[in-house]
Amino acid sequence: MKIIRAKDYYDMSRKAANIISAQVIMKPNAVLGLATGGTPVGTYKQLIEWYNKGDIDFSSVTTINLDEYRGLPRDHEQSYWYFMHENFFNFVNVQEENIFVPDGANPDSEAACKAYDQVIHKAGGIDLQLLGIGTDGHIGFNEPGSAFELETHCVDLTDETIKSNQRFFGEGEEVPKQAYTMGIKTIMQARKVLMVANGEDKAEILKKAFEGPVTPAVQASILQMHPDFTLVADEAALSLLDL
Ligand code: PGA
Repeated sequence: MKIIRAKDYYDMSRKAANIISAQVIMKPNAVLGLATGGTPVGTYKQLIEWYNKGDIDFSSVTTINLDEYRGLPRDHEQSYWYFMHENFFNFVNVQEENIFVPDGANPDSEAACKAYDQVIHKAGGIDLQLLGIGTDGHIGFNEPGSAFELETHCVDLTDETIKSNQRFFGEGEEVPKQAYTMGIKTIMQARKVLMVANGEDKAEILKKAFEGPVTPAVQASILQMHPDFTLVADEAALSLLDL
C-alpha cells in the first residue's frame, strides 16, 4: 500500500482529485466507484472546479456508488443518490444513464443486490474505487465482523453508524436501520482503491487498519492485501502511524 501525506483537508482533497483525474485522463471511459460521507466532498468540489476549467471530461465515465440506505427512494434528501447529485453529478457531465447507486426503494434485498452485482460485472468491474473510512473501520456499509467474501448485500447498521449518521437527518427523523452495500469482495476486485481520511478522530482507526492485523473486526484492514491501494490522509489522521 501507498500512503500519501497531506497537510490538511484541502490538500488531501486536491491530491485525491488528482489521482481520480489522472485515471479519467488515462481512460476516458473509466468506471469509478464512488463514496458518500463528509470526507470525499472536498474531492468532488475539486473535480467540479477542474471540470469547469475544461481540464476533465466525465462524458464517457461510468460511476458506481458503494451503498444506499434500504427504504429510501432516490428523491429522499438523505438518500445517497440525492447526496451524489447535490455534491457532484449535478455539476459535471456524467451521463445520467451511466450513474449507478443501489436501489434503496426496492424492498426485495436479494433482487436489489443481485441486480447491482450485475451492473458492476456488466461494466467490466471498477477501475478506481474511492473510499472513506468509519471510526469503527467500516468501508461502504461493511460493519465490523462482516465476512470478507461478500459481494453486494443487505446489512443491519450498527448503533455507532446510526448514531454517527443521525447528524445528517432532521430532528426526530429516523435513520434507516439497513442498507445495501458492495461487499468487501467487490471492493477488493476494484483495480485501484483510493481512500481519503482526515482529522484526529480517524487517527486511531487508521493505525488499527493499516498497522494492525488483517481481521474482519476491522474491515478496512483487508486493504493491506490489495495490490494497488493508496491512502491519502492529512497529518492529523496519520498522527498515530509509525510509517
Ligand atoms: P465520513 O464517513 O467521511 O463522513 O467520516 C466515512 C464513512 O463512514 O465511510
